[in-house]
Amino acid sequence: MVRPSIVFVCSACGAESAKWQGQCPGCGEWNILERREAAAARPGSPAARGPRPAATAPRMLSTDGLPARFGAGLAELDRVLGGGFVPGSVTLLGGDPGIGKSTLLLQVAASVAQHGAVLYATGEESGAQVGLRAKRLGLPCAALQLAPETDLDEILAQARAARAQLLVVDSIQTVQLATVQASAGGVSQLRECAAELVRFAKSTGTAVCIVGHVTKEGTIAGPRLLEHLVDTVLYFESDAGSRFRIVRATKNRFGAVNELAFFAMTEGGLREVVNPSAIFLARPQQVAPGSVVMVAREGGRPLLVEIQALVDPMRFGNPRRVAQGLDSNRLSMLLAVLHRHGGLSLQDHDVFVNVVGGLDVRETATDLPVLLALASSLRDRALPETLVAFGEVGLTGEVRPVAYGEERLREAAKQGFRQALVPRDNVPRRAVEGLEIRGIARLAEAVETVMRP
Ligand code: TYD
Ligand code: MG
Repeated sequence: MVRPSIVFVCSACGAESAKWQGQCPGCGEWNILERREAAAARPGSPAARGPRPAATAPRMLSTDGLPARFGAGLAELDRVLGGGFVPGSVTLLGGDPGIGKSTLLLQVAASVAQHGAVLYATGEESGAQVGLRAKRLGLPCAALQLAPETDLDEILAQARAARAQLLVVDSIQTVQLATVQASAGGVSQLRECAAELVRFAKSTGTAVCIVGHVTKEGTIAGPRLLEHLVDTVLYFESDAGSRFRIVRATKNRFGAVNELAFFAMTEGGLREVVNPSAIFLARPQQVAPGSVVMVAREGGRPLLVEIQALVDPMRFGNPRRVAQGLDSNRLSMLLAVLHRHGGLSLQDHDVFVNVVGGLDVRETATDLPVLLALASSLRDRALPETLVAFGEVGLTGEVRPVAYGEERLREAAKQGFRQALVPRDNVPRRAVEGLEIRGIARLAEAVETVMRP
Protein backbone atom coordinates (compact mmCIF):
# COMPACT_ATOMS: atom_id res chain seq x y z
CA MET A 1 0.00 0.00 0.00
CA VAL A 2 1.29 3.44 -0.83
CA ARG A 3 1.24 5.76 2.17
CA PRO A 4 -0.18 9.20 1.46
CA SER A 5 2.58 11.80 1.62
CA ILE A 6 0.38 14.23 3.53
CA VAL A 7 -1.26 13.41 6.83
CA PHE A 8 -3.25 15.41 9.32
CA VAL A 9 -2.04 15.20 12.90
CA CYS A 10 -3.85 16.25 16.05
CA SER A 11 -1.70 18.65 18.01
CA ALA A 12 -3.29 17.55 21.29
CA CYS A 13 -3.21 13.76 21.19
CA GLY A 14 -1.06 13.06 18.13
CA ALA A 15 -3.68 10.95 16.31
CA GLU A 16 -3.18 10.81 12.54
CA SER A 17 -5.84 10.85 9.84
CA ALA A 18 -5.58 10.75 6.07
CA LYS A 19 -7.94 13.68 5.47
CA TRP A 20 -8.70 16.91 7.26
CA GLN A 21 -11.58 16.75 9.70
CA GLY A 22 -13.10 19.36 11.97
CA GLN A 23 -12.95 17.06 14.97
CA CYS A 24 -10.02 14.88 15.95
CA PRO A 25 -10.98 11.20 15.69
CA GLY A 26 -8.63 10.43 18.58
CA CYS A 27 -9.49 12.86 21.36
CA GLY A 28 -12.56 14.66 20.05
CA GLU A 29 -11.02 18.15 20.16
CA TRP A 30 -12.25 20.59 17.50
CA ASN A 31 -10.21 22.46 14.88
CA ILE A 32 -6.93 21.00 16.00
CA LEU A 33 -5.65 18.87 13.08
CA GLU A 34 -2.50 20.12 11.37
CA ARG A 35 -1.40 19.31 7.84
CA ARG A 36 1.97 17.63 7.74
CA GLU A 37 4.28 15.56 5.54
CA ALA A 38 4.05 11.88 6.41
CA ALA A 39 7.11 10.48 8.17
CA ALA A 40 7.74 7.83 5.51
CA ALA A 41 8.21 10.51 2.88
CA ARG A 42 11.00 12.20 4.78
CA PRO A 43 14.52 11.88 3.51
CA GLY A 44 16.81 9.81 5.66
CA SER A 45 14.25 7.11 6.42
CA PRO A 46 15.50 3.64 5.62
CA ALA A 47 14.72 2.92 2.00
CA ALA A 48 14.90 -0.84 2.25
CA ARG A 49 11.80 -2.05 4.06
CA GLY A 50 10.18 -5.45 4.23
CA PRO A 51 11.08 -8.50 6.29
CA ARG A 52 14.61 -9.68 6.82
CA PRO A 53 16.02 -12.63 8.77
CA ALA A 54 16.41 -11.90 12.48
CA ALA A 55 19.98 -13.17 12.45
CA THR A 56 21.08 -10.29 10.24
CA ALA A 57 20.24 -7.69 12.88
CA PRO A 58 23.60 -6.01 13.47
CA ARG A 59 25.19 -6.00 16.93
CA MET A 60 21.84 -6.83 18.46
CA LEU A 61 22.31 -10.39 19.63
CA SER A 62 25.17 -12.12 21.32
CA THR A 63 26.19 -15.61 20.25
CA ASP A 64 23.91 -17.32 22.76
CA GLY A 65 20.89 -15.50 21.35
CA LEU A 66 20.40 -13.23 24.33
CA PRO A 67 20.80 -9.49 23.92
CA ALA A 68 24.43 -8.60 24.70
CA ARG A 69 24.07 -5.99 27.38
CA PHE A 70 26.51 -3.45 28.68
CA GLY A 71 26.61 -1.99 32.16
CA ALA A 72 25.58 1.56 33.05
CA GLY A 73 28.33 1.87 35.64
CA LEU A 74 25.79 1.87 38.47
CA ALA A 75 24.77 -1.54 39.77
CA GLU A 76 21.39 -0.26 40.99
CA LEU A 77 20.49 1.10 37.59
CA ASP A 78 21.70 -2.06 35.84
CA ARG A 79 19.36 -4.11 38.00
CA VAL A 80 16.37 -1.92 37.09
CA LEU A 81 17.26 -2.18 33.41
CA GLY A 82 17.26 -5.96 33.75
CA GLY A 83 21.06 -6.33 33.63
CA GLY A 84 22.33 -3.22 31.85
CA PHE A 85 21.55 -1.53 28.55
CA VAL A 86 20.50 -3.64 25.57
CA PRO A 87 22.14 -2.51 22.31
CA GLY A 88 19.54 -1.08 19.95
CA SER A 89 17.09 -0.42 22.76
CA VAL A 90 15.44 2.88 23.61
CA THR A 91 15.01 3.89 27.24
CA LEU A 92 12.91 6.80 28.40
CA LEU A 93 13.86 8.41 31.71
CA GLY A 94 11.08 10.59 33.05
CA GLY A 95 10.82 12.75 36.13
CA ASP A 96 10.16 16.21 37.51
CA PRO A 97 12.54 19.00 36.52
CA GLY A 98 15.49 19.19 38.91
CA ILE A 99 15.12 15.67 40.27
CA GLY A 100 18.48 14.50 38.89
CA LYS A 101 17.92 13.06 35.41
CA SER A 102 20.83 14.92 33.82
CA THR A 103 23.09 14.13 36.75
CA LEU A 104 22.33 10.42 36.55
CA LEU A 105 22.80 10.20 32.81
CA LEU A 106 26.00 12.21 32.88
CA GLN A 107 27.40 9.74 35.41
CA VAL A 108 26.25 6.85 33.21
CA ALA A 109 27.61 8.43 30.03
CA ALA A 110 31.02 9.07 31.60
CA SER A 111 31.21 5.50 32.83
CA VAL A 112 30.18 3.89 29.53
CA ALA A 113 32.55 6.21 27.62
CA GLN A 114 35.50 4.50 29.26
CA HIS A 115 34.80 1.39 27.20
CA GLY A 116 32.91 2.61 24.13
CA ALA A 117 31.86 5.69 22.21
CA VAL A 118 29.16 7.79 23.90
CA LEU A 119 27.42 10.89 22.59
CA TYR A 120 25.64 13.10 25.10
CA ALA A 121 23.33 15.47 23.25
CA THR A 122 22.23 18.34 25.40
CA GLY A 123 19.72 20.91 24.30
CA GLU A 124 18.95 21.90 27.88
CA GLU A 125 22.37 23.14 28.88
CA SER A 126 25.42 24.44 27.04
CA GLY A 127 28.41 22.17 26.48
CA ALA A 128 30.39 24.28 28.94
CA GLN A 129 27.79 23.81 31.66
CA VAL A 130 27.76 20.05 31.22
CA GLY A 131 31.54 19.91 31.07
CA LEU A 132 31.79 21.94 34.25
CA ARG A 133 29.37 19.70 36.04
CA ALA A 134 31.26 16.60 34.94
CA LYS A 135 34.46 18.14 36.25
CA ARG A 136 32.87 19.09 39.57
CA LEU A 137 31.57 15.56 39.99
CA GLY A 138 35.05 14.25 39.23
CA LEU A 139 33.83 12.16 36.31
CA PRO A 140 36.32 10.75 33.83
CA CYS A 141 34.99 12.55 30.79
CA ALA A 142 37.96 12.76 28.42
CA ALA A 143 36.35 10.20 26.10
CA LEU A 144 32.81 11.54 26.43
CA GLN A 145 31.54 13.44 23.39
CA LEU A 146 29.16 16.31 24.00
CA ALA A 147 26.78 17.69 21.38
CA PRO A 148 25.09 20.91 22.51
CA GLU A 149 22.54 20.53 19.71
CA THR A 150 18.80 20.66 19.29
CA ASP A 151 18.63 19.56 15.66
CA LEU A 152 17.93 15.84 15.76
CA ASP A 153 19.26 15.05 12.27
CA GLU A 154 22.55 16.66 13.24
CA ILE A 155 22.66 14.71 16.53
CA LEU A 156 22.02 11.43 14.72
CA ALA A 157 24.67 12.22 12.11
CA GLN A 158 27.20 12.82 14.88
CA ALA A 159 26.18 9.63 16.69
CA ARG A 160 26.49 7.68 13.44
CA ALA A 161 29.92 9.16 12.71
CA ALA A 162 31.10 8.34 16.24
CA ARG A 163 29.67 4.81 16.00
CA ALA A 164 28.16 5.48 19.40
CA GLN A 165 27.40 2.61 21.71
CA LEU A 166 25.20 4.90 23.78
CA LEU A 167 23.37 8.06 22.77
CA VAL A 168 21.82 10.26 25.46
CA VAL A 169 19.24 12.86 24.37
CA ASP A 170 18.67 15.43 27.12
CA SER A 171 15.84 16.21 26.65
CA ILE A 172 13.30 15.06 24.06
CA GLN A 173 11.41 18.32 24.69
CA THR A 174 14.29 20.39 23.31
CA VAL A 175 15.12 18.51 20.10
CA GLN A 176 13.41 18.99 16.77
CA LEU A 177 13.32 17.74 13.22
CA ALA A 178 13.51 20.42 10.55
CA THR A 179 11.03 18.51 8.41
CA VAL A 180 8.30 18.74 11.02
CA GLN A 181 6.55 22.09 10.92
CA ALA A 182 5.99 22.53 14.62
CA SER A 183 7.82 23.91 17.60
CA ALA A 184 10.06 21.79 19.83
CA GLY A 185 8.21 20.15 22.70
CA GLY A 186 4.92 20.04 20.77
CA VAL A 187 3.11 16.78 20.28
CA SER A 188 4.08 16.37 16.60
CA GLN A 189 7.77 17.04 17.28
CA LEU A 190 7.87 14.72 20.27
CA ARG A 191 6.24 11.91 18.38
CA GLU A 192 8.34 12.25 15.24
CA CYS A 193 11.61 12.75 17.13
CA ALA A 194 10.98 9.75 19.34
CA ALA A 195 10.04 7.63 16.32
CA GLU A 196 13.21 8.76 14.53
CA LEU A 197 15.32 7.87 17.58
CA VAL A 198 13.70 4.42 17.70
CA ARG A 199 14.47 3.89 14.00
CA PHE A 200 18.04 5.02 14.60
CA ALA A 201 18.52 2.68 17.57
CA LYS A 202 17.09 -0.33 15.78
CA SER A 203 19.07 0.24 12.60
CA THR A 204 22.45 0.96 14.18
CA GLY A 205 22.35 -1.06 17.42
CA THR A 206 23.09 2.06 19.45
CA ALA A 207 21.39 2.11 22.83
CA VAL A 208 19.46 5.36 23.11
CA CYS A 209 18.46 7.00 26.37
CA ILE A 210 15.89 9.79 26.19
CA VAL A 211 15.16 12.26 28.97
CA GLY A 212 11.53 13.38 29.24
CA HIS A 213 10.21 15.97 31.63
CA VAL A 214 7.02 15.08 33.36
CA THR A 215 4.21 17.52 32.73
CA LYS A 216 1.89 18.85 35.40
CA GLU A 217 -0.50 15.96 34.83
CA GLY A 218 2.30 13.62 35.83
CA THR A 219 2.77 11.92 32.48
CA ILE A 220 5.87 12.17 30.34
CA ALA A 221 5.43 14.84 27.69
CA GLY A 222 1.72 14.82 27.06
CA PRO A 223 -0.69 11.92 26.91
CA ARG A 224 1.67 8.99 27.39
CA LEU A 225 2.82 9.75 23.92
CA LEU A 226 6.26 8.25 24.05
CA GLU A 227 5.78 5.32 26.37
CA HIS A 228 4.49 2.90 23.77
CA LEU A 229 7.29 3.81 21.33
CA VAL A 230 10.20 2.94 23.59
CA ASP A 231 11.41 -0.36 25.04
CA THR A 232 11.91 0.71 28.62
CA VAL A 233 10.31 3.44 30.70
CA LEU A 234 12.02 4.55 33.89
CA TYR A 235 10.55 7.10 36.26
CA PHE A 236 12.51 9.14 38.74
CA GLU A 237 10.58 9.59 41.96
CA SER A 238 11.27 11.46 45.13
CA ASP A 239 9.46 12.64 48.19
CA ALA A 240 9.40 16.44 48.35
CA GLY A 241 12.45 17.69 50.18
CA SER A 242 14.03 14.27 50.53
CA ARG A 243 17.50 13.58 49.20
CA PHE A 244 16.56 10.02 48.36
CA ARG A 245 15.62 9.19 44.81
CA ILE A 246 13.94 6.11 43.44
CA VAL A 247 14.16 5.01 39.82
CA ARG A 248 11.31 2.69 38.92
CA ALA A 249 10.86 0.67 35.72
CA THR A 250 7.21 0.93 34.69
CA LYS A 251 7.74 -0.80 31.37
CA ASN A 252 10.60 -3.04 30.32
CA ARG A 253 10.78 -5.23 27.24
CA PHE A 254 14.07 -6.63 28.53
CA GLY A 255 13.46 -7.12 32.23
CA ALA A 256 11.03 -7.07 35.12
CA VAL A 257 8.76 -4.11 35.71
CA ASN A 258 8.44 -2.32 39.02
CA GLU A 259 12.07 -2.93 39.89
CA LEU A 260 13.39 -0.09 42.02
CA ALA A 261 16.80 1.51 42.29
CA PHE A 262 17.62 3.68 45.29
CA PHE A 263 19.90 6.69 45.11
CA ALA A 264 20.80 9.59 47.35
CA MET A 265 21.54 13.03 45.89
CA THR A 266 24.82 14.22 47.39
CA GLU A 267 27.40 16.94 46.80
CA GLY A 268 29.18 14.49 44.52
CA GLY A 269 26.17 13.54 42.41
CA LEU A 270 23.91 10.52 42.78
CA ARG A 271 25.18 7.75 45.03
CA GLU A 272 23.72 4.28 45.18
CA VAL A 273 22.07 3.44 48.48
CA VAL A 274 23.63 0.24 49.69
CA ASN A 275 21.05 -0.55 52.34
CA PRO A 276 17.72 0.69 50.97
CA SER A 277 15.79 -1.66 53.17
CA ALA A 278 15.95 0.72 56.09
CA ILE A 279 15.90 4.19 54.54
CA PHE A 280 12.22 4.63 55.26
CA LEU A 281 12.81 3.62 58.83
CA ALA A 282 14.04 6.46 60.98
CA ARG A 283 12.27 5.86 64.24
CA PRO A 284 12.93 7.65 67.50
CA GLN A 285 14.37 5.67 70.40
CA GLN A 286 11.06 5.71 72.22
CA VAL A 287 8.34 4.24 70.03
CA ALA A 288 4.91 5.85 70.44
CA PRO A 289 1.53 4.12 70.37
CA GLY A 290 0.17 3.66 66.84
CA SER A 291 3.49 2.81 65.20
CA VAL A 292 4.22 -0.59 63.67
CA VAL A 293 7.08 -1.63 61.41
CA MET A 294 6.22 -3.93 58.55
CA VAL A 295 8.33 -5.76 56.02
CA ALA A 296 6.91 -4.72 52.68
CA ARG A 297 8.11 -5.97 49.34
CA GLU A 298 8.60 -3.27 46.77
CA GLY A 299 10.47 -3.53 43.51
CA GLY A 300 11.56 -7.12 44.00
CA ARG A 301 13.05 -6.74 47.44
CA PRO A 302 12.04 -6.54 51.07
CA LEU A 303 11.74 -3.08 52.54
CA LEU A 304 11.13 -2.09 56.14
CA VAL A 305 8.56 0.66 56.46
CA GLU A 306 6.80 2.22 59.40
CA ILE A 307 3.02 2.34 59.44
CA GLN A 308 1.49 4.94 61.74
CA ALA A 309 -2.10 5.16 62.84
CA LEU A 310 -3.87 7.85 64.82
CA VAL A 311 -7.28 7.16 66.24
CA ASP A 312 -9.02 10.11 67.83
CA PRO A 313 -12.53 10.50 69.27
CA MET A 314 -14.72 12.18 66.68
CA ARG A 315 -15.86 15.71 67.52
CA PHE A 316 -18.77 16.22 65.14
CA GLY A 317 -20.28 15.05 61.86
CA ASN A 318 -19.13 11.88 60.14
CA PRO A 319 -15.97 10.10 61.23
CA ARG A 320 -12.97 10.83 59.03
CA ARG A 321 -10.95 8.05 57.37
CA VAL A 322 -7.69 9.21 55.85
CA ALA A 323 -5.12 6.87 54.29
CA GLN A 324 -1.76 8.12 53.00
CA GLY A 325 0.25 5.63 50.94
CA LEU A 326 -2.47 3.01 51.30
CA ASP A 327 -5.71 2.25 49.52
CA SER A 328 -8.51 4.02 51.40
CA ASN A 329 -11.10 1.39 50.39
CA ARG A 330 -8.88 -1.23 51.94
CA LEU A 331 -8.75 0.84 55.13
CA SER A 332 -12.57 0.96 55.30
CA MET A 333 -12.65 -2.81 54.87
CA LEU A 334 -10.06 -3.33 57.60
CA LEU A 335 -12.02 -1.13 60.02
CA ALA A 336 -15.06 -3.33 59.49
CA VAL A 337 -12.96 -6.48 60.04
CA LEU A 338 -11.46 -4.98 63.20
CA HIS A 339 -14.92 -4.35 64.55
CA ARG A 340 -16.39 -7.76 63.70
CA HIS A 341 -13.40 -10.01 64.35
CA GLY A 342 -11.07 -7.99 66.54
CA GLY A 343 -13.66 -6.68 68.96
CA LEU A 344 -12.57 -3.05 68.54
CA SER A 345 -15.01 -0.49 67.26
CA LEU A 346 -13.81 2.75 65.73
CA GLN A 347 -17.15 4.05 64.51
CA ASP A 348 -16.99 7.04 66.87
CA HIS A 349 -13.40 7.82 65.97
CA ASP A 350 -11.53 9.69 63.29
CA VAL A 351 -8.92 7.39 61.75
CA PHE A 352 -5.68 8.45 60.08
CA VAL A 353 -3.16 5.96 58.67
CA ASN A 354 0.15 6.93 57.10
CA VAL A 355 3.05 5.10 55.49
CA VAL A 356 6.10 7.01 56.71
CA GLY A 357 8.53 8.32 54.10
CA GLY A 358 5.98 9.00 51.39
CA LEU A 359 6.11 5.48 50.01
CA ASP A 360 3.05 3.91 48.39
CA VAL A 361 2.49 0.39 49.66
CA ARG A 362 -0.21 -1.36 47.73
CA GLU A 363 0.19 -4.96 48.83
CA THR A 364 -2.13 -6.92 51.07
CA ALA A 365 0.70 -7.66 53.51
CA THR A 366 -0.03 -4.23 55.03
CA ASP A 367 -3.38 -5.46 56.47
CA LEU A 368 -2.06 -6.91 59.71
CA PRO A 369 0.38 -4.05 60.48
CA VAL A 370 -2.35 -1.46 59.83
CA LEU A 371 -4.76 -3.26 62.16
CA LEU A 372 -2.11 -3.57 64.85
CA ALA A 373 -1.27 0.13 64.53
CA LEU A 374 -4.98 1.01 64.87
CA ALA A 375 -5.37 -1.18 67.94
CA SER A 376 -2.20 0.24 69.45
CA SER A 377 -3.37 3.81 68.95
CA LEU A 378 -6.86 3.11 70.27
CA ARG A 379 -5.53 1.48 73.42
CA ASP A 380 -2.74 4.05 73.66
CA ARG A 381 -0.23 1.30 74.18
CA ALA A 382 3.06 1.20 72.27
CA LEU A 383 4.20 -2.06 70.68
CA PRO A 384 7.70 -3.38 71.32
CA GLU A 385 10.20 -1.41 69.24
CA THR A 386 11.85 -4.60 67.99
CA LEU A 387 8.60 -6.02 66.60
CA VAL A 388 7.79 -6.38 62.90
CA ALA A 389 4.59 -7.67 61.32
CA PHE A 390 3.09 -8.50 57.96
CA GLY A 391 0.13 -10.48 56.68
CA GLU A 392 -3.13 -10.30 54.80
CA VAL A 393 -6.38 -10.26 56.75
CA GLY A 394 -9.54 -11.69 55.17
CA LEU A 395 -13.16 -10.64 55.67
CA THR A 396 -13.81 -13.51 58.05
CA GLY A 397 -10.96 -12.41 60.31
CA GLU A 398 -8.49 -15.04 59.14
CA VAL A 399 -4.84 -14.09 58.74
CA ARG A 400 -3.60 -15.26 55.37
CA PRO A 401 -0.05 -15.90 54.23
CA VAL A 402 1.73 -13.57 51.79
CA ALA A 403 4.45 -14.27 49.24
CA TYR A 404 8.16 -14.21 50.14
CA GLY A 405 7.54 -14.76 53.86
CA GLU A 406 10.95 -16.17 54.65
CA GLU A 407 12.76 -13.47 52.68
CA ARG A 408 10.90 -10.79 54.64
CA LEU A 409 11.76 -12.44 57.95
CA ARG A 410 15.45 -12.69 57.09
CA GLU A 411 15.54 -9.02 56.18
CA ALA A 412 13.87 -8.07 59.48
CA ALA A 413 16.46 -10.10 61.39
CA LYS A 414 19.25 -8.49 59.39
CA GLN A 415 17.96 -5.05 60.34
CA GLY A 416 18.01 -5.92 64.02
CA PHE A 417 14.38 -6.80 64.73
CA ARG A 418 13.82 -9.48 67.37
CA GLN A 419 10.15 -10.43 67.20
CA ALA A 420 7.86 -11.05 64.26
CA LEU A 421 4.10 -11.44 64.17
CA VAL A 422 3.22 -13.20 60.92
CA PRO A 423 0.55 -15.45 59.38
CA ARG A 424 0.88 -19.00 60.68
CA ASP A 425 1.49 -20.35 57.18
CA ASN A 426 4.43 -17.96 56.76
CA VAL A 427 6.35 -19.40 59.71
CA PRO A 428 9.39 -21.04 58.13
CA ARG A 429 10.41 -24.59 59.06
CA ARG A 430 13.94 -23.50 59.82
CA ALA A 431 14.45 -20.90 62.49
CA VAL A 432 15.63 -17.43 61.48
CA GLU A 433 18.57 -16.53 63.65
CA GLY A 434 17.89 -13.79 66.18
CA LEU A 435 14.18 -13.61 65.45
CA GLU A 436 11.37 -14.94 67.62
CA ILE A 437 8.59 -15.70 65.14
CA ARG A 438 5.00 -16.02 66.25
CA GLY A 439 2.51 -17.42 63.75
CA ILE A 440 -1.13 -16.43 64.04
CA ALA A 441 -4.24 -17.66 62.30
CA ARG A 442 -6.90 -15.16 63.38
CA LEU A 443 -6.99 -11.41 63.85
CA ALA A 444 -8.38 -11.76 67.39
CA GLU A 445 -5.21 -13.66 68.37
CA ALA A 446 -3.00 -10.93 66.99
CA VAL A 447 -4.84 -8.16 68.81
CA GLU A 448 -4.85 -10.18 72.00
CA THR A 449 -1.13 -10.99 71.75
CA VAL A 450 -0.16 -7.39 71.23
CA MET A 451 -2.55 -5.80 73.67
CA ARG A 452 -1.82 -8.12 76.58
CA PRO A 453 -0.55 -6.03 79.47
P1 TYD B 1 19.58 17.73 37.40
O1 TYD B 1 20.30 16.47 37.13
O2 TYD B 1 20.02 18.94 36.64
O3 TYD B 1 18.01 17.56 37.24
P2 TYD B 1 17.13 17.30 35.93
O4 TYD B 1 18.02 17.01 34.81
O5 TYD B 1 16.24 16.14 36.34
O6 TYD B 1 16.30 18.52 35.74
O7 TYD B 1 19.69 17.98 38.96
C1 TYD B 1 19.58 19.21 39.47
C2 TYD B 1 19.50 19.20 40.96
O8 TYD B 1 20.38 18.29 41.59
C3 TYD B 1 19.88 20.55 41.44
O9 TYD B 1 18.81 21.04 42.20
C4 TYD B 1 21.11 20.40 42.24
C5 TYD B 1 21.16 18.94 42.56
N1 TYD B 1 22.53 18.41 42.52
C6 TYD B 1 23.16 18.04 43.69
O10 TYD B 1 22.59 18.15 44.78
N2 TYD B 1 24.42 17.52 43.64
C7 TYD B 1 25.08 17.38 42.47
O11 TYD B 1 26.23 16.89 42.48
C8 TYD B 1 24.43 17.78 41.27
C9 TYD B 1 25.12 17.65 39.95
C10 TYD B 1 23.17 18.29 41.33
MG1 MG C 1 18.34 18.23 33.14
